Amino acid sequence: MKPSYEEILSIQRNVDIVDIIKDYINLTPRGKNFFGICPFHDDHSPSMSVSKDRQMYRCFVCGASGNVFNFVKNYENISYYSAIKKVADKVGLSFSYKEKETTINPIQKKYYDIYNYASKYYQNNLKTSLGKTAKIYLKNRNITDDMIKHFNIGLSLNDNNLTKLLLEKGFIENELVEFGISNRIDNKTYDIYKNRIMFPLWDINGNTIGFSGRIYDSNQDGKYINTKETNYFKKGSLLYNYHNARKEILKENSVIVVEGFMDVIRLYSINVYNVIATMGTAVTKEHLNLIKRLTNNIILMFDGDSAGEKATNSFIKEAENESFKISIVRLEEDLDPDDYILKKGEEKIKYHLKHPKNLLNYKMDFLKKDLNFDNSKDISKYINLLKPELEKIEDDIEREVEINRISKQTGVDSKLIKSKLKTKVKQEKKEFIKDKIDYKTNKYEKASKMILYFMLKNNDLIDYYYENLSFLPNKDDNLLANQMVLFYKKYNCFNLNDFITYLEDKSNLINEILQIESYNYKINCNKEEIDSYFKSVKEYIKNKKIEELQIKLKNETNDIVKKEIAKQILDIRIKGV
Ligand code: CTP
Ligand code: MN
Repeated sequence: MKPSYEEILSIQRNVDIVDIIKDYINLTPRGKNFFGICPFHDDHSPSMSVSKDRQMYRCFVCGASGNVFNFVKNYENISYYSAIKKVADKVGLSFSYKEKETTINPIQKKYYDIYNYASKYYQNNLKTSLGKTAKIYLKNRNITDDMIKHFNIGLSLNDNNLTKLLLEKGFIENELVEFGISNRIDNKTYDIYKNRIMFPLWDINGNTIGFSGRIYDSNQDGKYINTKETNYFKKGSLLYNYHNARKEILKENSVIVVEGFMDVIRLYSINVYNVIATMGTAVTKEHLNLIKRLTNNIILMFDGDSAGEKATNSFIKEAENESFKISIVRLEEDLDPDDYILKKGEEKIKYHLKHPKNLLNYKMDFLKKDLNFDNSKDISKYINLLKPELEKIEDDIEREVEINRISKQTGVDSKLIKSKLKTKVKQEKKEFIKDKIDYKTNKYEKASKMILYFMLKNNDLIDYYYENLSFLPNKDDNLLANQMVLFYKKYNCFNLNDFITYLEDKSNLINEILQIESYNYKINCNKEEIDSYFKSVKEYIKNKKIEELQIKLKNETNDIVKKEIAKQILDIRIKGV
């Protein structure tokens, strides 16, 4: 049986939306509300507000809004009841109702099922006698059983059993090929991954969506083979370990970004958890947006070699205009974090992580390498390149210290350097409310929306509506109004957060009520005004009826019926509906 509204409400009453959303995005208090980067659009500055009083969230830019269940449902892309379960679990309440996942599309579901199965299959291989050599390889690399388990590391064998098993389970060949699990050559289907250590790759919610397979005992081409790009596996929007690290990144309010997943796995072994990896690809806007949801503080710790330096610089270039605070660790001797920890030990890397270079100092060191301070042109170039960094420093003393340092380095008077800097004017944030009433809509539609709006803001109008109109022309508007009446009659009060829960999973109605709620319109409404909206709606219904009858009349051939219809039209004209 479906859970009752009351049962769901008891969960809702026992959670705080701020606590729940804090597990997904970084929230900072401002005034009465909390603000964060909206996860539902390509957001660059905190546009989402979360209200503790109202227990609702709303994005001022994209309009995404709802209560705690809607947030979890939309963020995790899961069904409504799964979202309720998730929320209940988080606060230790029981909620046992399970339903078929309906919101996720069936192909995507198949994709997840296949990868989930494959991941379990690979993990199991590693435990069998055929996994002996691979286990030795892992052991030699100091990868413990705990690390294997935590990162679901597995093994592909030199056979086609995965394909075979999946076919036996009822998946079809085309899908396996399309999803990047199998290959077809000469009408035979083969496993793509052979004889490799398998690292599952996850989406931001922890679903396995791909693999990276590493050679370990042969001379096969390519150290790593990754799943090909599919609709669900896109390297440009994938950050290794994001779902595992999310909580820790929020807690620490900083993220360590490394190149390889082996670096993540090694750092985990020394209890550093707020780490994600770009997996050797250039950082994308999507990556940055995923990070920004959690924190503004990035510690870049790419490989110590020159490729790592290049990658560091292009990461900085992509991210520095995005309000991040970036600091950098450069490891000695060309080492990557994994090798560094093995070779130099835990303490040394932890020291690095505690004392990363800020962007200005990193740039100073980096630029110095190519410039000659005996050359005035080079000095001028140096200072100009550092200018933006100096301008960003908000603390006066800190800025002064850095200016003096540069002055000492170059021999240029600090006053001159200072005079070159633009003082920063704090930008006022504009929050615009998108969804005002669209004046393109006709008078009657507008009247309907206004009726709903005022019912929402002045709850006694709900009864007034029921007694004096009780019908709206648009199907959804009408349904919504009916639900409001029912809710109000049953509970004798009206609260939007509860009402949305009452609406269960009727997302069209929920979206509509939330949109209407956001109208930037006065709150109070006198009887005359609401009556005039009622009148508009009645007029609309009347005209509509007449129109329908007129069409009927036109198509009717029987004179007696024609007369009857004409009389009906006249009646409506005189008496109304
Ligand atoms: N990578 C890849 N394909 C390759 C090489 C690298 O996809 N042929 C990606 C992998 O995600 C890898 C990251 O780039 O994690 C960093 O590459 P690299 O530094 O070469 O790998 P390591 O992390 O050093 O791996 P290992 O220590 O096992 O050699
Ligand atoms: Mn390595």
